[in-house]
Amino acid sequence: MAKPKAFATRALFPEARAVLDAEFETDYWSQPGGISRVELLKRVADCEALVCVITERVDEDLLAAAPKLRIVATVSVGYDHIDVAACTRRGIVVTNTPGVLDDTTADLAWALLMAVARRVIEGDAWVRSGTWNGWDLDQLVGGDVHGKRLGIVGFGRIGQRMARRALGFDMRVLYTGRRCAPTEVEKELRAEFVPLDRLLAESDFFSLHVPLLPDTRHLINAASFLKMKRTAYLINTTRGPVVDEAALVEALKAGQIAGAGLDVYEHEPKVHPGLLALKNVVFTPHIGSASVETRTKMAVMAAENMAALFAGKRPPNALNPEAIHV
Ligand code: DGY
Repeated sequence: MAKPKAFATRALFPEARAVLDAEFETDYWSQPGGISRVELLKRVADCEALVCVITERVDEDLLAAAPKLRIVATVSVGYDHIDVAACTRRGIVVTNTPGVLDDTTADLAWALLMAVARRVIEGDAWVRSGTWNGWDLDQLVGGDVHGKRLGIVGFGRIGQRMARRALGFDMRVLYTGRRCAPTEVEKELRAEFVPLDRLLAESDFFSLHVPLLPDTRHLINAASFLKMKRTAYLINTTRGPVVDEAALVEALKAGQIAGAGLDVYEHEPKVHPGLLALKNVVFTPHIGSASVETRTKMAVMAAENMAALFAGKRPPNALNPEAIHV
């Protein structure tokens, strides 16, 4: 019997291709830089399964161009690029990759936190420039990390991994979110639930871990920066629009906060020019989950979700189980 047709917008990893190739006749887009929208709309025309990434919008137009589609498997935990409700209306299952990228993303958030507080990137640039003339007492003095207060906005899997890292730095953790974590988790992570306003006023570092939803867009805005300590640092590894980027630029310029470590941007891949001009901001290009191990796991997970559906099983990471008809 002919295998169902799948389209993957990336070459993926051999481990994921092995899963896909066993079950599907898969067309992989392997040109660097990703696929254009026009090409994507053409490629999905006859496919029943799509593996995509966060830069590809799965909306009504794409769904209309893909009449045979039964599943969209995104290689990401975030799914704000997918119109899940529209998929559900058409009986298309959507899956994501939760759980496998938590530590890797928290590692990167921690790297940004350390880099901005201890001015690692400025130091690197100075040494490379050949203009460093030797040690001095007030050179590149930054802020201490150990013993400070870490405010975590969104205490899900990644937020909690961030808290775990703070234990090793003797930090006190404040967190906020939709609900309190179980008491044993709070105890183990020495974390205290507080309202957002208190977290803004008392934290030395903020790490954002909420998904992008209508009510988290610009959650951190001009009013938030006014409440923060002037010595505070903001770390964002979730989604750019959670922060009002223009307000962040103003807050940094006015010295309302001490610095920022950013992996995500409001209008990716564009970065606000005001941010690029500032030395007290450390940038990475949306690489929170970018380790070989984790990206491999994510791609395999996406492939396994697709394979499950076509084997008549429930894909383990379905975001809209109501669309499953097996
Ligand atoms: C995600 O998984 O949502 C990241 O942003 C991309 O790895």
